[in-house]
Amino acid sequence: MKMKALVICAGLSLVAFACHGSEYPRFLSQMKTGLNGHYSTQVSCTSLGFGVEANNLSKWKTVPAACQEYVADYLLGDQYRSDSKTVCREAYFYAKTLKFTARDVFVFDIDDTTLSNLQYFANHGFGVEAHNATAFKIWVSFGEAFALPETLVLYNKLVGLGIKVVFITERPVDLKDVTISNLKEVGFHTWEKFIARDPAIYSGKLSNAFKTSERKKLVAEGYRIVGNIGDQWSDIVGEKKGFRTFKLPNPLYYD
Ligand SMILES: *[C@@H]1O[C@H](CO)[C@@H](O)[C@H](O)[C@H]1NC(C)=O
Ligand SMILES: *[C@@H]1O[C@H](CO)[C@@H](O)[C@H](O)[C@H]1NC(C)=O
Repeated sequence: MKMKALVICAGLSLVAFACHGSEYPRFLSQMKTGLNGHYSTQVSCTSLGFGVEANNLSKWKTVPAACQEYVADYLLGDQYRSDSKTVCREAYFYAKTLKFTARDVFVFDIDDTTLSNLQYFANHGFGVEAHNATAFKIWVSFGEAFALPETLVLYNKLVGLGIKVVFITERPVDLKDVTISNLKEVGFHTWEKFIARDPAIYSGKLSNAFKTSERKKLVAEGYRIVGNIGDQWSDIVGEKKGFRTFKLPNPLYYD
């Protein structure tokens, strides 16, 4: 019975995939799997997630409608937390091996690395709806985001080891105060620097250009970036990216 339901669902999904041809590699919609070689959303969407995490699917704008349920199940179920835990534990194991100095810092991104926007995306189609910067900014300005639990564990362990944390966020400087009170509210109490995006300097610049430029400034000030963690590839590539980088899962959007 279960298999039958899956097959019906997969048949419907095929239509949806076809509608998203420009955002979604063709081969996935052409793959058949399972009993009698039918289409499976579960299989295709898992592959999509894999490609996204490896950064081999890039510059996509929205999640295909057929994968909405998959993305919701992933984020609301155990897998998201487990994947995040694997990455955060690895970051901690690495940090423990360091003979660090007072100038060593670990860079943390904020959105969907430190603070979760899951409440927002749950109300906006889990990445299927086109991004609405106005609505997103309103949500951020509430300052009500939860901490991502595995990141909070990592953060506390790093602070316990004596490693300094630097936050670098795409959030604009006018949302700095609300972001800081949100961070404190959910358990992030200390940091060496909090760097938000100054539109006067970075207007029209890509996320990666902003982050790279700010990291270079840190290094010029004498800091050593021993580690860097983010949910977007733009957080963790480019000059002075850090001695080791850690990629948290995010199937919702591509920056
Ligand atoms: C595919 O992913 C690998 C691993 O993340 C990366 O090194 C490579 O540059 C990616 N290729 C393309 C074309 O994006
Ligand atoms: C974006 O969000 C704002 C604020 O909620 C809303 O007024 C506007 O209609 C939305 N734009 C689109 C294109 O949905």
